Amino acid sequence: MNNIWQELEKPILCLAPMEGVTDIAFRQVIAKAGRPDLFFTEFTNVSSYASEKGRANALERLAIAPTDAPIIAQIWGKNPEHFGATCAALKDLGFAGIDLNFGCPDKHVNKAGGGAQMIRTPDLAVECFRNAVANSNGLPVSIKTRLGFSFINEYQTWLPTLLKEHPAALTVHLRTRKEMSKVPAHFELIPDIIELRNQYSPETKLLINGDIKDRKQALALFERFPNLDGFMIGRGVFENPYCFTDHAPTKAELLNLLHLHLSLYNNSNFEPLKHYFKIYIRDFPGASDLRAQLMTCHSTDEALSFLQRFEQHPENFGGKLEP
Ligand SMILES: Cc1cc2nc3c(=O)[nH]c(=O)nc-3n(C[C@H](O)[C@H](O)[C@H](O)COP(=O)(O)O)c2cc1C
Repeated sequence: MNNIWQELEKPILCLAPMEGVTDIAFRQVIAKAGRPDLFFTEFTNVSSYASEKGRANALERLAIAPTDAPIIAQIWGKNPEHFGATCAALKDLGFAGIDLNFGCPDKHVNKAGGGAQMIRTPDLAVECFRNAVANSNGLPVSIKTRLGFSFINEYQTWLPTLLKEHPAALTVHLRTRKEMSKVPAHFELIPDIIELRNQYSPETKLLINGDIKDRKQALALFERFPNLDGFMIGRGVFENPYCFTDHAPTKAELLNLLHLHLSLYNNSNFEPLKHYFKIYIRDFPGASDLRAQLMTCHSTDEALSFLQRFEQHPENFGGKLEP
């Protein structure tokens, strides 16, 4: 049975799963700019998939494009049977692996017993993991989590609990749930975490996440810690959608990505896309005006035609637009 985690060369660079961001449209944009070794879906709730009412929505979140492969489905929840039911479907949907979200700090998710709440219910986390593996049809099952719920030193017991289950990969976001993303990631703990992996499950691929902006920074960390297997980059894509490459994009290239994003985006839900204009429109004299104007649009078609009109006037960019 193929295991994508074993097939990929070190260091494995991944685009972090991000709810409301890493959907099918955005992943195609990043694939165009320069793809990571592995994509992840936004997290999908297992109880939603397991219910008649929620399944269509779950399947929509799990839709993938040809340029996504290889891609991992990320799932969350608290019901072991529902983990099993969801995992049973994922191979046929085209996924290369399954990732369990044991780290989301969102209070609604935690109240529902999922995400980082799993750190507080380790027996349930293990049961969910085992049910996922038992129903995965051979797909590798990995885990993404945080150091702890409230205290940093929780990692000393929480990570061994997970490693003893021998997940295919473990991604550690180097913060606690309580820290959200408000403090710098605890890079100083990397050597300790590598030790734990080596002690409890040497075959588990170990990935680090938090404050890693781009490929260059990931490679520098890999040089310091060659026993790591990979890195996940999340918010770095907001600063540079080409962050998985060494390429410094021109303004024209960034605007082309916006064209692509607009043309792929689900028009019926245009408003959330507005959060992401800043990724593509910045660092030229008319950038903030253009963003402000695009914010007044009500559909992707309207935004596209507005953008085309703007681009016909290179003076808008404070000079000639690079090819
Ligand atoms: C908007 C947003 C949505 C996120 N959604 C998810 C998610 O669905 N699943 C997950 O495991 N983590 C999620 N995260 C956390 C990221 O995957 C990542 O762990 C975090 O942003 C830290 O990495 P970074 O410093 O590279 O951004 C989300 C983060 C952001 C900013």
